[in-house]
Amino acid sequence: MYFQLPTLPFDENALAPFMSRETVRTHYLGHHKAYIDNLNSLLGETGGDYGSIERIIQNFDGPIYNNAAQAWNHTFFWHGLTDRTRSRIPQDNGDLDQAVERSFGGWSSMQEKFQDCASGVFGSGYVWLTVDGRGELEFAATQNAANPLRFERIRPLWCCDLWEHAYYLDYKNQRVRFVEGIWNYVNWEFVESCLLLDGVPNMTKFMIASRPFVPAKGP
Ligand SMILES: [Fe+2]
Repeated sequence: MYFQLPTLPFDENALAPFMSRETVRTHYLGHHKAYIDNLNSLLGETGGDYGSIERIIQNFDGPIYNNAAQAWNHTFFWHGLTDRTRSRIPQDNGDLDQAVERSFGGWSSMQEKFQDCASGVFGSGYVWLTVDGRGELEFAATQNAANPLRFERIRPLWCCDLWEHAYYLDYKNQRVRFVEGIWNYVNWEFVESCLLLDGVPNMTKFMIASRPFVPAKGP
């Protein structure tokens, strides 16, 4: 089984001005695609069929893990964002609203917790919104490609990519402005759909290749 770059769930301009078209294209067609191409090349060398990216993340370390995790993380990152007009905080007493109230004491406190967690990430990594088996929400920071599918007892609901490539073209060294801005572009419908799942979100379904992967030829 090989994987392909998933279709973006929005237009390349949809996140502007928070995230420019140039950043989306560089991040998506440059970085995200490279992780998937690398993963296909590495899997090709093993000759195995591992069924899903979620299973690969659970069972490999080293380069295969890093590239599979980054393929998954970026697909999840894109799905967690939407254009500003569709990013509506669901203050509707629904499942997510109730979980936010119970876990953080409200949406403003939740945003503060997210910003605090993001400010603590040194270097490259992610902030994840997670839920545990009791339905408690929490933010967790990870380094580099680390993916919470490897963590026990929590499931990811959303993530914020804090690698420099996510913000540097638009904000240079002002990462805090990126962290503040992203809150207005969260796809809360997607977050709530993840909360209602029994298991981890299936990102493999967006990346199943319809044709075999053909590694690029060298010069
Ligand atoms: Fe990224």
